Amino acid sequence: MNDVRAHLTVYGCQMNRLDAELVAERLRRSGARIVADSAAANVLLFLTCSVRAHAEDRLFSNIGALGARKRREPDLVIGVLGCTAQQYGEDLRRKAPLVDVVCGPGRLADLPALLERARRGQPAAALDPRRTPAGAGGFDASDRALDDLELGRPLGGPSPGHAYVTVMRGCDNFCAYCVVPQVRGPERSRPPSVVLAEVCGLGDAGARRVTLLGQAVNKYEAEENGRRWDLADLLAATAEMPGLARLEFITNHPRHVTERLAAVFRDVPAVAPYLHMPAQAGSDAVLARMKRGYTAREYEGRVAMIRQARPDVAVASDFIVGFPGETEADFDATCDMVRRLRFSGAFVFKYSPRPGTYAAAHYEDDVPAREKRRRNQVLLDLVQGIALEDNRALVGKTVPAFVEGPSPHPHLDVDAEEPARGEDFPRGPYGPRRRAEGNSGVVQLRARTPHNRIVVFDGPADLAGCIVPVRIVRASALTLFGERVTAG
Ligand code: SAH
Ligand code: SF4
Ligand code: F3S
Repeated sequence: MNDVRAHLTVYGCQMNRLDAELVAERLRRSGARIVADSAAANVLLFLTCSVRAHAEDRLFSNIGALGARKRREPDLVIGVLGCTAQQYGEDLRRKAPLVDVVCGPGRLADLPALLERARRGQPAAALDPRRTPAGAGGFDASDRALDDLELGRPLGGPSPGHAYVTVMRGCDNFCAYCVVPQVRGPERSRPPSVVLAEVCGLGDAGARRVTLLGQAVNKYEAEENGRRWDLADLLAATAEMPGLARLEFITNHPRHVTERLAAVFRDVPAVAPYLHMPAQAGSDAVLARMKRGYTAREYEGRVAMIRQARPDVAVASDFIVGFPGETEADFDATCDMVRRLRFSGAFVFKYSPRPGTYAAAHYEDDVPAREKRRRNQVLLDLVQGIALEDNRALVGKTVPAFVEGPSPHPHLDVDAEEPARGEDFPRGPYGPRRRAEGNSGVVQLRARTPHNRIVVFDGPADLAGCIVPVRIVRASALTLFGERVTAG
């Protein structure tokens, strides 16, 4: 595989960004190289997301656009990895005939063998068993292979000094709209000893910020040497990592937020005061049809429990607008919830029916596209109006900012959390780097406050991975603008 030059484009959530590191590690071990420039590659890999139709459409149009190049370079190998690969399985090649390799998210360790076959001119696929809500087993071998890659990878996470760590794979919640349980398989918590060994290794390699990942991370449950562990136990043990300054965990399911988890915010100083706990809707009728397993009141009770333990915890949410049967009154209930709870931020998505989900099979997608767009905008405006008020209250204050690197959108006031397009892996040079005037080597840096707010300020690029005090001088809804506070 020494002559493989692979380029990797990543779509989707944090889990896919971590999977990109695993793919890179697997290819490196087999002698292949990862190249940042897709034009220089002879293998093009797409790590995909199927959560909304939009993400898939982008993938298929990007692959379709490669037709001319594939005719010019007949040896070019195109691989689709991750959730969309698992969703379509072998059918993917019927939809996108240019694709040579199809590899599900559980089978990334098989990638070199698949590429070898494809380079001999044979299409190749590795997929997990199809699952039903009744569950499916048989993931042990592939999980061990993924563990091996995850444990062996160098620190090369989302930004310098920041590492993602899997604590749970899969999902058993089967929310009516969601494709994740069928593409990521059944819920499996990794043993605490494995998670902690990984965290220690990353700490030795220089990680100062760790984000524990799971689709419902707070359902974490494991038993080892006769001791039972939940997420609160795991967070407390992870926080012991020498040098760890910031510990986060995403994403939380409201049903499984407990007093024990709330207490962690109060008792474990390394745990950041930030809780991503998607509500999805504020109407009980919609929540029931979504099969979320809680009412709006119960959700608010969870927020209250967290804020009682630590009043300043920033609670962030996701919402889906235009879910089947969502009336104007239902939507108003969501807006009322946002006004009452004052989320620090929220992603708002228009409902997109996904094949194989309960909602696609049982509910009519009956909210017109225009109405979905309108509700999306109304809710976003509301969320951002509140965020703007809360951000303005921070002007004049000094916050410890974890520096991620040069600002990807120096002139734009946007949050680039969800990749709108596929991102290159490793992330290419961030957008146009604005140089602060008359100060060579100084760029606009992007950092995160403990509450996960974005703060930008001018400073040397080599501050990436450090925590520095920044005084907030101006605020918009999505971004704080600051100045570095230096001693003397
Ligand atoms: N495990 C996470 C969510 C993963 S998917 C959780 O439970 O919170 C990320 C977000 O995409 C979800 O929170 C939801 O808001 C949105 N989403 C999922 N399926 C969707 C669909 N079919 N249409 C629109 N948005 C969807
Ligand atoms: Fe999807 Fe629900 Fe699982 Fe989140 S908890 S991944 S929304 S099924
Ligand atoms: Fe993540 Fe998308 Fe898969 S949200 S789990 S990459 S379907």
